[in-house]
Amino acid sequence: MSVVLEAQSIGKVFPQGKKNIHALKNVSLKFQKGEFVVIWGSSGSGKSSLLSILAGLDKPSSGKIFLDGDRIDTISESEQALLRRDQIGFVFQSFHLVPSLTALENIQLPLDLKKDPQASKKARELLKSVGLDHRAQNFSYQLSGGEQQRVALARALISEPQILFADEPTGSLDSQNSKEILVLLQKLRKKKETTLVLVTHEPALASLADRVITLKDGQLVEDQSGKTFAKKANIYTLG
Ligand SMILES: Nc1ncnc2c1ncn2[C@@H]1O[C@H](COP(=O)(O)OP(=O)(O)O)[C@@H](O)[C@H]1O
Ligand SMILES: [Mg+2]
Repeated sequence: MSVVLEAQSIGKVFPQGKKNIHALKNVSLKFQKGEFVVIWGSSGSGKSSLLSILAGLDKPSSGKIFLDGDRIDTISESEQALLRRDQIGFVFQSFHLVPSLTALENIQLPLDLKKDPQASKKARELLKSVGLDHRAQNFSYQLSGGEQQRVALARALISEPQILFADEPTGSLDSQNSKEILVLLQKLRKKKETTLVLVTHEPALASLADRVITLKDGQLVEDQSGKTFAKKANIYTLG
């Protein structure tokens, strides 16, 4: 096993008027290649803050982040942008597609930006792999939520990132669409050994993970296998 990403003593403080909000406190984590990790915790526990920092969308207030052994929390904005383009994928709960582009163009965008001559071909393949080849020319507002999320997923995958982060990717989808997104994520992991770091509120999904990391008030309080998590969840629901 090899460590892809490591977070050391991450802290995040948001200034709020005269007092500060400590969204993350001293969080240390390692992610192995090909691992499927779920981040669990109630609303406000720091899950999105942690994901943004791990993915280089935001900087920590303290601590260090290493990708393949190299610090990434101290690099410039433009270097971070390159990392997000080439090595790190991100899927948001609310899709974040470009409304003026078609489904196909949205998927192709990351490769167009680096002038990849294969952009169009790869985008078509991915569109097909998420079951949307018939939607190529539709704009995002013409797609259902589930379809939009599949496009967002394909766009995040087109650069074949080492790590894919997803912040409640099924949070605004119905159960059928959630399932489809899940099946796609699982396939991807098997095929490319992509490390998957997912925030979710669904116990069934968390129980599938290699590890479930629980945050509470910005602190890491539990780091257990999906199986152990499932056992405890059962005990809990059985009362
Ligand atoms: N940009 C921000 N400015 C101020 N406070 C923030 C900001 N983002 C998050 N917070 C605060 O940090 C804490 C953790 O938030 P967040 O990471 O979004 O939690 P979660 O995703 O688990 O719901 C919350 O108290 C939230 O209000
Ligand atoms: Mg959140």
